Formats: sequence, structure tokens, C-alpha cells
Amino acid sequence: MSIPTVTAPTFEHHANGLGLDTPTPRVSWRFESTMSTVGAWLQSAYEIEVFFVSAPIAQVYHVHSDQSLLVPWPAKPLRSRECAQVRVRVWGKTDSSDVAYAREIPSPWSPYSEVEAALLEDTDFQACFIGPAKNIETEGPLRPLRFKKAFDLPPHIHIGDRARLYVTAYGVFEAWINGNRVGDECLAPGWTSYKHRLPYRVHDVTSLLAPCRTNVLAIEVAEGWYAGRLGFDPGHSFMYGNELGVYAQLEVMSSGNGLEPWTLLSDDSWSCTDSAILAAGIYNGEVYDHNEEVDDWATMGTNWPASRAVDVKVLPWKTAKLVAVDAPPIRVTETVLCKQVFRSASGKIILDFGQNLVGKLQIPSVSLGKGEKLLLRHAEVLEEGELGTRPLQDAKARDIIIGSGKTIYNWSPRYTYHGFRYVEVTGWPGKGPSMRDIQALVIHTDMRRRGHFHCSNSSVNRLHDNIVWSMRGNFMSLPTDCPQRDERLGWTGDIQIFAPTACFLYDTTGILLNWLQDVAAEQLEDGKGGVPPLVVPNALVDWPHFAQAIWDDVTVLLPSELYQYSSDKLLLERQFHSMQTWLDNGVDRATDGLWHPDKWQFGDWLDPSAPPEDPGNGRTDSVLVANAYLIHTTEVFSRLCEVLGKANLADRYSKDVYRLKLGFQRRYLTPEGNLMSSSQTSIALAIQFALYQDDTARRTAAETLERLIRKAGFNISTGFVGTPAICHALTAIGRPQLAYRMLLETKCPSWLWPVVHMDATTIWERWDSMLPDKRINPGSMTSFNHYALGAVADWLHASVGGISPIQPGWRVFRVRPVPGGNLTHAKVSFDGPYGQIVCEWTLDGNDFKMDLIVPPNTSALVTLPSDLRTDYTVKEETMHNVSSGRHSFKCVFNAAPWPPKPIIPPYMSMPPDTIAE
Ligand code: BGC
Repeated sequence: MSIPTVTAPTFEHHANGLGLDTPTPRVSWRFESTMSTVGAWLQSAYEIEVFFVSAPIAQVYHVHSDQSLLVPWPAKPLRSRECAQVRVRVWGKTDSSDVAYAREIPSPWSPYSEVEAALLEDTDFQACFIGPAKNIETEGPLRPLRFKKAFDLPPHIHIGDRARLYVTAYGVFEAWINGNRVGDECLAPGWTSYKHRLPYRVHDVTSLLAPCRTNVLAIEVAEGWYAGRLGFDPGHSFMYGNELGVYAQLEVMSSGNGLEPWTLLSDDSWSCTDSAILAAGIYNGEVYDHNEEVDDWATMGTNWPASRAVDVKVLPWKTAKLVAVDAPPIRVTETVLCKQVFRSASGKIILDFGQNLVGKLQIPSVSLGKGEKLLLRHAEVLEEGELGTRPLQDAKARDIIIGSGKTIYNWSPRYTYHGFRYVEVTGWPGKGPSMRDIQALVIHTDMRRRGHFHCSNSSVNRLHDNIVWSMRGNFMSLPTDCPQRDERLGWTGDIQIFAPTACFLYDTTGILLNWLQDVAAEQLEDGKGGVPPLVVPNALVDWPHFAQAIWDDVTVLLPSELYQYSSDKLLLERQFHSMQTWLDNGVDRATDGLWHPDKWQFGDWLDPSAPPEDPGNGRTDSVLVANAYLIHTTEVFSRLCEVLGKANLADRYSKDVYRLKLGFQRRYLTPEGNLMSSSQTSIALAIQFALYQDDTARRTAAETLERLIRKAGFNISTGFVGTPAICHALTAIGRPQLAYRMLLETKCPSWLWPVVHMDATTIWERWDSMLPDKRINPGSMTSFNHYALGAVADWLHASVGGISPIQPGWRVFRVRPVPGGNLTHAKVSFDGPYGQIVCEWTLDGNDFKMDLIVPPNTSALVTLPSDLRTDYTVKEETMHNVSSGRHSFKCVFNAAPWPPKPIIPPYMSMPPDTIAE
């Protein structure tokens, strides 16, 4: 018998503990154990040791508690900049005979983590935003700028004295000290609603300073999301301002002499010049002119010529609050090598990276003659043997390098990103590049991966990989719709739909909480009527402001999902006003409380039957879809009120749910359970959100849904809203084989058609973004990297793999694999808030075997396939309550007949099965 070990503690939802925006950061730890030796184990007490760097001794706080997530900060509140070392150990109870041992002996101490407060008071911000004192541009694009300041450290500063750089920009920036990059973040400080909240970064720069000589702090800034063009048709520049600027506050604490920190602040004594990057736009890419380069400009070695110096002025402070955020930064997370270089139909050189990815190119070295141009055009797909750039709309998605006659080393664009698999190269010296000359760098918000899925069907595995790639490419400081065209915006509906999948795959709490604060800030602006913009930050400023179900329901459903994955009640409290305002004031209701029937809704957006140019015009009544969601959202909100101890409100909203359901039944349901606007989407939603009046109606629904699916020949006929629901609904009504049959279908439209027949490596926006004849779908919005339709992964994790949360933080979780189709094996793992969950099953004939790992301090409710209820009107099923440890299960499982057959006209012969093997 042993007890688990404890991971180094984490603080709030921050990735590394440096720069927390609170004096009392909550503390969490996970458990690690060799699970074969740790049996059932529940924490009974914890001890947190806090060692303030400024104090002589550590304080230890012993707390009787079973909590290991977000426990209160036990020590005195941190002051601005204050730093502490923290470690944790735990005591536990076990169900083994060795109780006394387990009770008395704590776990080993965790490794130390460091936590440091950011600048917590307004008065801590002493520097100024500075910009060039030249004429203010009235039209974009703005050329990037370089700022620098040389300084000598006072004699009492020594090597190793703690140094911090607090830095941000009006624009996106990179910083250097003595020529060395500060941090490794791309596109800092990321994109937020800059009129409300502008993030700053806290960097430990202790090792970059040189006490005995003159140092240089240099910062380059480009327009990024601050001043660059955003939105389509044609979009807007200067959304937040038309002057680029930087803010820097360098502070060095001399060890031990109690002096105030030595500071260097950005002010009008800094110098400034134009960058060698002539233009850098998020959509259009970068133009770099090597003739304009001043080598080593960021060091003392060289100064830019006086003729190029630009005067610096202090810029006004904006209304935005400077904030230190928990969202992890954007980073390069992978290098992808070129897989093939070939000539296009017209003779152009094209590189194929084998993967539709999001990021930028890197060229280790290239020699261009003076004035020679190297043009790099990016695209996700080929059409008729050439780069398929039409889906990019007005995004140029190209980078240009202008040669000087000297070799250029280590070039990579800094202030843009592209979505691409293919790159057309024009102007490469000699015969053109080889595969080794150019690499691709993958960039995205660097979240911790936590969910994995694998099964015996390789096409399904590729589908899952594609979903992960689409998530990576679209988590770019905030959750975006797509990464390639002139859009790349924080569409609220897309993440609302995809959140259950996203939260499983990666730890999204930091990034999504940050974004939700912007949702609330923009929703609650005066005159907005409690309705958030459809994209946050709102870049569609010319669009009318109107309420939309599903999209705006993000205000309630996303906090709820994050709570389920984090058990963070504070986040619910923070978002409470936003949630309630949406339901009370935002929803545009008719007198019965349901959505006003005359209002336009996106509905089941991109249903495959909708015309390419009218994606909201699918087969399901869009107001019905809105109403189903309204009831669900109200129900979820009522539960959240209960979680927060607001019993009266919980009761009020649950009565609303009751009334709205009656209204829904009156409007849309016959007494036998036939639904108006009967479709896969409408029935799946009504099943998922429990909208049927009784068992008869539910039975009718199950039979009708089966009929619709078999009549559709197992092709998909759902859009953004029905797609996440359909497989869950089929499983709930005891027809998982239909869900498997749809999952494994390979004809268009289906999940696997792009995988099996079109070499897709990401999830497409449309089921047929590329038409079967390899032409790009004529619809104007046709992306090859949109995660929404990948929301089926939630079903892969919960029902194929078999795990899903019951209690917040996954403290109690469900294990309920539903084998089916031609799958003989599946493995799912989730490195959650308590530790690693693993569930792996095999099916050999009728013999089902499953191995399960339950992390310490949690428990699982297990339903074996032999105990699955087969009709969802039957409420009970046998469940085993299982505590932490490693468990094995066996049963005999007789799946329903496979494969199910389509319903076809009697004059046709049965078509061959088109199932991915
Ligand atoms: C975006 C979507 C979004 C939709 C709503 C599109 O242009 O790419 O994903 O949700 O518009 O209208």
C-alpha cells in the first residue's frame, strides 16, 4: 500500500504562476500514482507550505478537507510583485486494511511552485505608452516600428538580482534585452476586447541583464488586431486606434538591501525607427525588406542611422484596464517538415506540408539578389492543380522577402499567421527550394493537452486527429471560427457548440475564461440590451446588433461547461450578471416566453441541404431550433443558480423551464409525439433536452428518428446545431448502431467522406467544402479548418471511449462505453483536474473486457455494455460505484445487428455498404 504523490501546485488557471492578477490565488494540485499500488484513496487533509521570498521562514497551513482544486490561499495576501514558493502534501483515507498507516503518514511533499503577483494597484503602472511623433495615419496599413532604450544598471544591482519586465503594446510585439528574445510568445499580448481590457505580460528577465555594462531593451510592434484590418466586406482598420505604441516597465530588485526596485520606464526619451518589416497584417501577411535591416539593432552594437530615427511621444492612456490574464500565450508548438515539392499545372513551385496547419514558414537561410523578391503564397487546398485561394476571400495570406544581395538567416514572419497546407514559392534563387529549405511552424495558444482517443478504426482515428488539428489552429488567443480567410473571429456559436470537445482535449479554462470576460464586457455595454455581439471582440461593427439563439447562449452554456471541467464557482459568480442579463433582457421573446417567431435565426447553420449561399436555410425550422436551445439554456442556468446557493432564482428559472416546455409542446408537438419540422436535428434536440411530453411521444420520436436516418442512407443531414446532438440522441434512445453507422459512412456528406476520399487533415466548415469533383464549394464562406462539425468528438469520448463527467472537475465521472459498428477496441484518456483517467476496452466476439484507471480522490460510476438500457424510456440501469485505483471488468455483450440497412424505394436494389473498415 502506498499513497499518491502530488504534482507541483498550480494557481488559479494560470499556466506558470508568474503574474497572477489576484492577491489570493487559489491553489490546486493533481495526483500522480502508480495506480497498481494505490487503491481506493480519498484525501482527508492537506498541508500547504508557503515560503515568502521576503520572509525568513516558511509557514505551514494544515486544513482538514477533501478538496484539492482551487482551495483558498492560506497565507497573507500577496502584495504587488510579491513572490512565494509553495508546496503541498496530503493525508488520505483508504479502504485497505492499512488505514492507520494511510491516516498518519502524509504523502511526500510536492515539488515547489513559484507564484508571483502581477501589478495589482493602478498606481503600480508607472510607465507611459509611447509612439512615434510623426503624422497620424488615416489609412492603414501601418508599418511596424522599433523602439529601444540603452541603460546602465546602478552599481548595487548584481548578477542574479530579480528582474521583471511588464510589457504590452498598442499592437502586437516582440521584445529583446541585449539582443536576446524576451520569452517565446508569438503575437503578444494576444487579442482581447482592447477597449475594455488590454493584457500585459510579466517576464522574468533576470538572466538577460548584464550589470556591468550598458544594456538595451528593444521592442518591435506591428498593427496586429489593434490597428490592422479585421472583418470582411471589406472590414475595418484601426478598430482600436491608429497609432502603434509600446509600454514597458523594467524592474530590478537588488537582493537584500531593502531598496525600492530600480526601474526603467518607457517614456519620450526612447528612440524609435521604422522596422525592416514594411508591412505586417494578420490577413495579408508580411513584407520584409532586407535592405532596410540594421543588423543587431536590438543590441548596443549598432544604432540605427540618425536619418532614420523618429521622435517619440507619449500616447494617451486608453480606457482599457491593463490586465494580467490566465490564458496561456501563443507559441510555436511544433515544426512540420515539407513533405513534397512539385510543379503546379501552370509550372509554379508548390510545397506540400502534408497537413493543413496554422502558423508560418521558417527559412533557415536564403540568398536573394538586391531587390529580388521572394513571394510565398499560402492556401489550404489545391484546385485544378493550382493553389486554391478563393476561400481566402480578401486575405492575401502571403509573405514577401525583398533581397539585399546578402544572405538572410532565420527568417520567419513575426506578426501574422496563415492557415495552409500548400505554399506557392516564386523567386527562390536557382532551381527553387528543396524540401529542407523551408519548414512550417505551428502556432496556437499553448494549452495543456489532456484528452486522447484511439480506436481500432484508423479512419475514425484520423477524424479525431483532424478535430485536434482544427482546435489547435483556431485557438489563437481566443476561440476563432477559421484561421485563413479575412475573418478569424471569435464567433460565439462555434465555441458554444464545440466547448465540450475542446474542454476535453485541452485545458481551455484560462483562454476561455479570459474570452468570456470580454463577452460580458461587450454584452453589458450601454445600449446593447443585454445581447452580446456575434463575434467577440466585436469586429463586425457594421453589422446590426441582434439577438441569436445558440450563438448568444454561449453566455450561459460556456461558463457551465467550464464549471463542469474545473469546479470553479468563482467563474460562475463572475459571469452571473452576463448569464442572467442574456436570459432576462437579451432573448427576443413572444408573449409565451419562447423566441419571437418572426425573428431571423441562424438555426441549424450549414445543414447540408441549405443552398451554398444561404446556409441558414436548412430543413429544420430555425425558430424551433432556437426554442429548444432556449429551454436547455434556461434549465442549465437554473442549475447554476442552485450551485451558487441562489435557491429562489433556481426555482424561478426551473418554473420558466416548465412553462417554456409546455409552450414548446403546444407550438410544435402532436399528442403522439410527432414534431413539426421533423428532421434529424429537431428530434435529436428534443431528445437531448427532454422536450417530449411522455413516453408515448418519446417512443414516436425514437422511431421517427430511426426512420429518417435510414431513409437518408446514413448520410449526415445536420448542421452546426444538430451535429453535436445526433449521436448522443441515438445512443440515448438505445440505437447506438445507427450512430456508428453514420459515423462510419464514407459517402458525401458524412464525417469520414473528407477523410477517406479527400485526404482531409482538418475539419471543414461545410460537409462538402471540397465537392466530390474536387472543385471548391461555390459558397463564399468555404473554410477547410472550422472545428464546429468536429463536435462529434464529444460522443467519441463519452460513448465510444466511454467517459464523461458527472460531478464538477470530474470528481465523479461516468464510465459507460457503448461498443458498436466494426470497432473492436477503444482507448480514451483524460488527464483531468485530479489526475489521469484511462479507460480501454476490447471486444472479441461477444467477450467484452475493460481496464479502467480512476485517479485518487475521485470515483466512477460504471455501466457495462451488458447492463446498458436498450430503450431510453427505461430509466434504470445497473451501475457499479468504483473508487480510485486500477480495475478490470468483463462481460458478455451482444451488440444489435450490424450494419443497419437503409430504407430504399422497393424498385431499387440494396446499395453496397459504404462503411469505413
Ligand atoms: C463563420 C461561422 C459563424 C457563422 C455565423 C461564418 O462566417 O465562419 O463559423 O458561426 O458565420 O453566421
